[in-house]
Amino acid sequence: MDQLTPVLSADNDQAIARAADLLRDGRLVAFPTETVYGLGADAADDRAVAKIYEVKQRPSFNPLIVHFADQAALSSHIEWNDRAERLAAEFWPGPLTLVLQRQVNSSISKLASAGLDTLAVRVPDHPVAAALLRAAHRPIAAPSANPAGAMSPTTAQHVYDGLSGNIDLILDDGRCQVGLESTVVNVRDSTPQLLRPGGITEEQLVSCLGGHLVGLTSSELRSPGMLSRHYSPSTPLRLDVEVPQSGEILLGFGPDCPATPYNLSRAGDLIEAAANLFAILHAIDVQGAHCIAVAPIPDIDLGKAINDRLRRAAATV
Ligand code: TXA
Ligand code: MG
Repeated sequence: MDQLTPVLSADNDQAIARAADLLRDGRLVAFPTETVYGLGADAADDRAVAKIYEVKQRPSFNPLIVHFADQAALSSHIEWNDRAERLAAEFWPGPLTLVLQRQVNSSISKLASAGLDTLAVRVPDHPVAAALLRAAHRPIAAPSANPAGAMSPTTAQHVYDGLSGNIDLILDDGRCQVGLESTVVNVRDSTPQLLRPGGITEEQLVSCLGGHLVGLTSSELRSPGMLSRHYSPSTPLRLDVEVPQSGEILLGFGPDCPATPYNLSRAGDLIEAAANLFAILHAIDVQGAHCIAVAPIPDIDLGKAINDRLRRAAATV
């Protein structure tokens, strides 16, 4: 996109319908939530999710929060447990993100959860976000709508200043009420862990859960993107390979690499490659080869994030 991004006032049904159409078409729409503006994409569309990473220039595939219209819409995507039920009943819709076990057959893009077996989910408490989720009739992956490293946007103007020209629409509904991102808490395991402080306080969580919460200490202050070995197929990886050795499966890139059934993008398109990365690594991993030989990926734009993920996958610690 080279043109400036249109901004529509979100106070009418046509604007919501337009935004929902764009999302269903694989486009990116910024929309208000009660916390901050989110940069939304169809969470089941690998290519649309890859565009989020591209547009934000995230240095690595830090996983995204997937937004739902209501709790019922989550049932085929995550494994519920008592802790999640209790927190959802008290704080949803609202500024709380729950990290839970992903269901094996969830249709959510693996890129949205950066190849992890967990999924971060939330039901936002904002009339525009809720109307958009209902109209699009699908889960929406949405990080904060800012370039990586910049502050989260709390007005449509902030979004416009950071991303205009690179996204398809901005829905404007004034200032976000919470203005601070949601609290992220991992409740998959029996001892819940606070991963990011936010709109719901630690005290509120502890009182709802009856006291079991591992707080944020410096050793636990981590996001998945900070771990060195992060997404790790069981097959070892060898990177920057021009010619694979016998017994290796080649993970290719671009039109000129040796023939292989596994090419991240025959066209050499980094957005397509990012969208394919986790799905193809999974497919190769079940082949039982002794090594995955990875062709060189250009270290520019989304290629940086792809290489970051590949280096983590290849790391032995
Ligand atoms: O309020 C918010 O949460 C906003 C609005 C738009 O909903 N979204 C937002 O997204 O702040 P983002 O991408 O800027 O932050 C997502 C955070 C990151 O710290 C990420 O590491 C964490 O959630 N996260 C996402 N999926 C995760 C997972 N499976 N396990 C652990 N942490 C996860
Ligand atoms: Mg953010």
